[in-house]
Formats: sequence, structure tokens, C-alpha cells
Amino acid sequence: MRYGLAKRLVLSALAAALLVPAAFIAMQFLHDPGSTTPSAPVIDAGRQIRQGQYLAQAGNCMACHTSRGGPAYAGGRAIATPFGALYSPNITPDGASGIGKWTADDFWRALHNGKSRDGRFLYPAFPYTEYTKMPRADADALFAYFKSLPAVYRPNREHALRFPYDQRVLLAGWRALYFTPGEFVADPRRSAQWNRGAYLVQGPGHCSACHAGRNALGASQEGAGLGGGLIPILGWYAPSLTADTEAGLGAWSEAQIVELLKTGVSAQASVFGPMAEVVAQSLQHLSDSDAAAMANYLKSLPPTAGERAGGQASREPLEQAVLERGAKLYGEHCTSCHKDDGRGAAPAYPPLAGNRAITMASAINPIRIVLNGGFAPGTTGNPRPYGMPPYGPSLSDADVAAVVTYIRNHWGNQAAPVSAQEIGRNRAVPVE
Ligand code: HEC
Ligand code: HEC
Ligand code: HEC
Repeated sequence: MRYGLAKRLVLSALAAALLVPAAFIAMQFLHDPGSTTPSAPVIDAGRQIRQGQYLAQAGNCMACHTSRGGPAYAGGRAIATPFGALYSPNITPDGASGIGKWTADDFWRALHNGKSRDGRFLYPAFPYTEYTKMPRADADALFAYFKSLPAVYRPNREHALRFPYDQRVLLAGWRALYFTPGEFVADPRRSAQWNRGAYLVQGPGHCSACHAGRNALGASQEGAGLGGGLIPILGWYAPSLTADTEAGLGAWSEAQIVELLKTGVSAQASVFGPMAEVVAQSLQHLSDSDAAAMANYLKSLPPTAGERAGGQASREPLEQAVLERGAKLYGEHCTSCHKDDGRGAAPAYPPLAGNRAITMASAINPIRIVLNGGFAPGTTGNPRPYGMPPYGPSLSDADVAAVVTYIRNHWGNQAAPVSAQEIGRNRAVPVE
């Protein structure tokens, strides 16, 4: 008897263990919020296509869906993740290999609910977690634009994800934990301009895809909003857009924010690395009123403490010998552009004194730019950006560590020193 009961208990536990996930997965498959949202009638088809083109730039679809030197939107670009590489699909209107057979409903479901035409769950490397904020009319405009492009035959390449991440069905659990489909809801207490900015930042602009940081399962960190974090694999730190010790914009004027977003340079800092690409490919194309709306929203975000606050007195004592070595190297290699007083010559050469990009707790960004150099983005507002030469080839790990430690601790800057080991580790990170 006892044995029978125990056996039955074990069996029912087993059944539950199998059935719960099955029910769960089925629920995610069947649950299709937004599936009844109708398309609005289109009065001016040409205008709708132009709106779609504008949104494709605001959403930077090109960044992932076009391989280097490849045909526009035909996919095939490798997107590295900690779980392996994904290859972006072809979203040109080719019937055999692209989205030629898709309907506007299919497309809406992909953007709004993260499912492909056949219902498969899509990986959140595709930022539908943010695009879900777009209303149906914006999704339809994007669809009309992609349908208007030349069809390119280019079959999709299979993703190269490690087990178990290659099992799409497991995304059911991920979705239940981290994904809530839903359009942007305007806050009636705020101005129309603020709401437009909030929509652009949270929706098409998908700023939180990088600036929220990601947890171990690749989900934008809960509650963090724009709280900053390391971008895995890319090996850059996306600063918090709310902490004043990082890239919080509360103290900037709206005009300064617009300048940084549209031209990539400003009196305080210039953008580099992945952010330079975001400005070049996406933000510089924003209309003046949309850039101003984004600035208005970003400026209004309540400041957070920024737990990774840099700029605090470093815990490790600074070694005088390292600082002296850094000062000497700075004089030899850097003063010509960034000047003795560290104020640079904006907009060509950004200041290093008081530049938060340098004093954050994570030193990875200044390390990478000193090793690899970089260019501010080429934009209509700043068509011939000045460049920063790479020092990786000519300076030793100890030298780079000394000069980065020096710029983090001179002209009133204060941040923890960096070690030669940290420089060595970053040499291994690919530039792209
Ligand atoms: C950060 C990279 C990234 C950006 C930006 C991005 N996508 Fe994607 N997209 C992907 C990846 C990766 C996939 C494949 C996901 C998968 O296989 O599960 C994908 C899948 C899709 C799909 C589904 C295609 C299919 O065959 O199932 C559509 C549609 C799509 N993206 C449209 C867009 C549009 C429109 C934009 C811009 C508004 C955009 N994407 C921006 C990475 C991106
Ligand atoms: C592909 C990842 C990525 C996306 C998407 C992205 N950023 Fe960034 N952003 C970064 C990284 C990395 C940095 C650090 C490099 C730098 O300071 O330029 C950065 C820096 C910044 C800075 C600080 C610039 C400075 O030096 O003071 C601002 C402001 C900013 N981003 C705003 C935005 C906004 C607004 C959006 C959305 C429209 C956005 N970012 C989208 C990766 C990203
Ligand atoms: C030939 C001029 C030149 C020299 C020499 C130079 N830089 Fe730069 N530096 C630049 C430019 C231009 C940028 C902006 C690059 C960008 O936005 O991608 C920059 C950016 C930076 C940044 C990122 C700050 C920001 O807001 O963009 C750091 C840190 C930096 N330089 C440190 C150094 C150090 C340390 C040296 C000497 C070892 C040095 N630079 C030498 C031109 C120079």
C-alpha cells in the first residue's frame, strides 16, 4: 500500500513536472495579445512608406539586418551573444527567402509579440521587447516600407547557438519571466513632447537594449530601465542614462543633448564605439522635433544613485610611480589633441577633464578607446569627424594601464586605477 502510494506520488510529480511546462509552452504559443488589433485604413500610400522608412532608421533595423557590404536588409549579419551567434534573417520582400509571403498581420505579430510567421518564438536579440511599444500604424508603415524595397534572394543562415539555448521552445519560460507585450501608453500628466520622447526612447530607439544591462539570461535587467551595464561580448559598458556619475543628462541643456544625439560630438564628450554607430545609422536621421522630444524625456528622468558610481575615491591607493609614468606618456602621446589641461578642443577633440566616460567605475571604455582608437561618427552635423589613433600596437600593457590610470586621476578626475592585466584581457576583445 505504502509503496503504491509512494509510487503514485512519484508518478504524479513526474507527470506534473512534464505537464506544467507543456501547459506553459502551449499557453505561450496560444497567447497572442494584439492579434485582434486592426490596421487603420491608409489614405496616402507614399506617405506611409516614407513614415516606414523614417521608423526603420529610428529603430536601426539596418544595424542588424544588413551584413557588412551585403545588400540592404537581406540579413546574414552575425550577432554575437554569450550563448553563441545568431544570424539576422532576410527581411526584404523576397518570396522564397525573405518576408515576401508575410501579411501585415504576421509582421505586426513579430514586432508586437516576438513570434515568426509560423508561430515560432523569436530570440530577444531581436529587440521586440522594445518594439512591442510601437502602435499598429507604425508597424504597418514599416511593413509597407519593407515591401517597397527590392527583393533579394538570400536564404537565412542557421543560428549557431549552444545547447540548450538552441531550443527555441525554452523561450516560453523566458517570455513568461521577462516579456510583456504592450503598446506604449502615454502619460496624460506629461506634455505631448515628453510622451513622444518617451515613446521613441522606449520603443523604436530601443535604448534599453544596451543601456539597461542584461542579466545572465540575456534579459534587460528588471527595474533597471536605463541603469547601465556591460554589453556582453561587445565588451563595452553602456553607461546609466539616469546616474549623474555616468551618463545621466539632468544637468545638460536640451540643446546639448540634441547636439550629442544628432552630431555625435558635444562640448562635454563625444560618442564612440557602439554608440557612434547608433548615432551614425539612426539618431542623426531623427527630425529636429523628434530629437528635441527625446532630449526632453531623457533630461526629465529622475536621477538614480548609480551603484556602479565611478568618480568616488578609489579604494586601492594610487601608486605615485604609476601616475608619474602616466603623466609622462600623456605628455608624449596625448597633449597634442587633449591638451595639458585635459580640456581638449571640442568639438574636434573631447575634453578628458570632467568627462564622465572616463571616470566610471568600469574602466573598460577608456581602455578600449586607448587600445583601439576610434572615430566619432560621421554625421550631417559633423561630416568630417576627427580620429583618435590606436595605442595598442605601440604601448605595453603597463603603459596603457599607467596612462588610463593617470587620466582617471588628474584635473580633479577620481577613479580606481586599472591594472596591466585588465589591459591584457581587453586586447583579446575583437574591435567589432
Ligand atoms: C539588435 C539586432 C536587431 C535589430 C536592431 C533588429 N532586428 Fe530584426 N531580428 C534580429 C534577429 C537576430 C532576428 C532573428 C531572431 C530569431 O531567429 O529568433 C530578427 C528577426 C526579425 C524578424 C522575424 C523574421 C523571421 O523570419 O522570422 C522581423 C520581421 C524583424 N526582425 C524585423 C525587424 C525590424 C522591422 C527592425 C527595426 C524596426 C529590426 N528587425 C531590428 C535582430 C535585430
Ligand atoms: C548598441 C548599444 C547601444 C544602443 C542601442 C544605445 N546606446 Fe547609448 N551608449 C552605448 C555605449 C556602449 C555607450 C558608451 C560609449 C560612449 O560614451 O559613447 C553609450 C553612451 C551613451 C551616452 C553617453 C555619451 C557620452 O559620452 O556622454 C548617451 C547620452 C547615450 N548613449 C544615449 C543613448 C540613447 C538615447 C539611445 C537610444 C536612442 C542609446 N544610447 C542607444 C551603447 C548603446
Ligand atoms: C590625434 C588626436 C588625438 C590624440 C593624439 C589622442 N586622442 Fe584621444 N580622442 C581623440 C578624438 C578625436 C576622440 C573622439 C573619438 C570618438 O569619439 O570616437 C578621442 C577620444 C578619447 C577618449 C574618449 C572620450 C570621449 O568622450 O570620446 C579618451 C579616453 C581618450 N581619447 C584618451 C586619449 C589618450 C589617453 C591619449 C594618449 C595616449 C589620446 N587620447 C590621444 C583624439 C586624440
